[in-house]
Amino acid sequence: MTDATDQVTLSHDGQSYELPVIVGSQDERAVDIRKLRSASGLITLDDGYGNTGSCTSAVTYVDGEKGVLKYRGYTIEVLATKSSFVETAYLLIFGELPTSSQLNEFRGLLTQHEFIHEDMRHHFDGFPPNSPPMAILSAMINAVGCFQPDFMQPEDDEHFMEPAARLMSKIRTIAAASYRKSIGKPMIYPRSKLRYTENFLHMMFSKPYEPYEADETVVAALDRLLILHADHEQNCSTSTVRMVASSRANLYASVAAGVCALWGPLHGGANVAVIEMLSELQQSGEPLERFIARVKKKGSSTRLMGFGHRVYKNFDPRARILKNACHRMLDKLGVHDPLLELALRLEEVALSDSYFVERHLYPNVDYYSGIIMRAIGIPTNMFTVLFAIGRLPGWIAHWREVHTNENARIDRPRQIYVGPNVREYVPIDERG
Ligand code: ACO
Repeated sequence: MTDATDQVTLSHDGQSYELPVIVGSQDERAVDIRKLRSASGLITLDDGYGNTGSCTSAVTYVDGEKGVLKYRGYTIEVLATKSSFVETAYLLIFGELPTSSQLNEFRGLLTQHEFIHEDMRHHFDGFPPNSPPMAILSAMINAVGCFQPDFMQPEDDEHFMEPAARLMSKIRTIAAASYRKSIGKPMIYPRSKLRYTENFLHMMFSKPYEPYEADETVVAALDRLLILHADHEQNCSTSTVRMVASSRANLYASVAAGVCALWGPLHGGANVAVIEMLSELQQSGEPLERFIARVKKKGSSTRLMGFGHRVYKNFDPRARILKNACHRMLDKLGVHDPLLELALRLEEVALSDSYFVERHLYPNVDYYSGIIMRAIGIPTNMFTVLFAIGRLPGWIAHWREVHTNENARIDRPRQIYVGPNVREYVPIDERG
């Protein structure tokens, strides 16, 4: 980050205020308002934070106009074709691609921590059948924290590798167990000789008497899907993790909060909503033009799920990669999914409609990810959980960035109060 020589002058009430302009490493510019209130008494108002930089960060770069996404300087296109999820996770958390020995050490730790404490296993019994796996995931991540010492040294790579690997490994075991719980089936123990993604599929789909043999294409597709979800700078769930971390809360509490934020249908839950939307359209046979007209109606509560993004205004590079991957994978597996055809037609109808063109609404990462997960055999109620497994390295990296920033302050936005002024308290028997 460099300080630019230029500044912005703000005039208000006969006074002028000089505000410095901060420049990021990709020439992004921000007006530094940190001293604005003490100098002028004014604050800024930006609900939804569309124009607010909440921090400086060296983890991920997004250029929404050009459709660029980079983790630690590496483009998503390169990582999606050349890297693995575990290597990408290491890159995000530690800032550099690992050497072979670092990667082996990290892999070894992932294997070492794949089991959950036996006492923790009993926690699953407390959840009612059909509990949403996202609820179980969030609760159980907090529970993992109860079984681990609180002490962490986030500034030390060597030391931090252990807690980072522990959480990454356990989230996979918990996620698979939460699915098994939700369908009333026994938990499957991990198998140490399997790699990260394959081991997850084993815990999801093996039977106690018959191991699941994962297809190479399926493992590769899932691994790529996890890479594409691994970080996305200051999105809702990552900002949540950072905000909780800013109070100096521990890694588990901060990540558990991130899981809850991700759950919502406007964020990670959109991958479920897309499949629900496509399935309803398929069943009802409603003409796509009529559905689009419903979506466009002023005040409509129906949205075209999987479309639109706060930052990407031309295309979402992740959606492009996924659309191609989706075709390739379905072809290779010989799967014919009518929902993919429907999704393609719906995309075409939307993208030729001025409503979507004028508002810069394009397919986002969630539009095609559900179709890939269906083909892999992942049930719909696990889609957002898969997103959480993918996003975890990003959350860990951001948690670490907050905890290693000596100048970090607790996040505490201000507000413009619009409620009533002083009111007189009326005793209950005198209220009308
Ligand atoms: N369908 C129809 N109209 C839409 C959509 C959509 N999917 N998305 C935005 N719009 C319209 C809005 O109605 C609004 O129209 P108006 O100007 O006439 O009022 C305009 O486009 C701007 O929309 P906002 O809601 O202000 O955009 P915002 O940046 O706040 O929201 C969001 C972004 C939440 C992603 C939104 O586009 C949306 O709801 N999309 C559907 C849900 C979804 O796919 N979420 C996943 C996002 S990616 C992720 O989180 C991993």
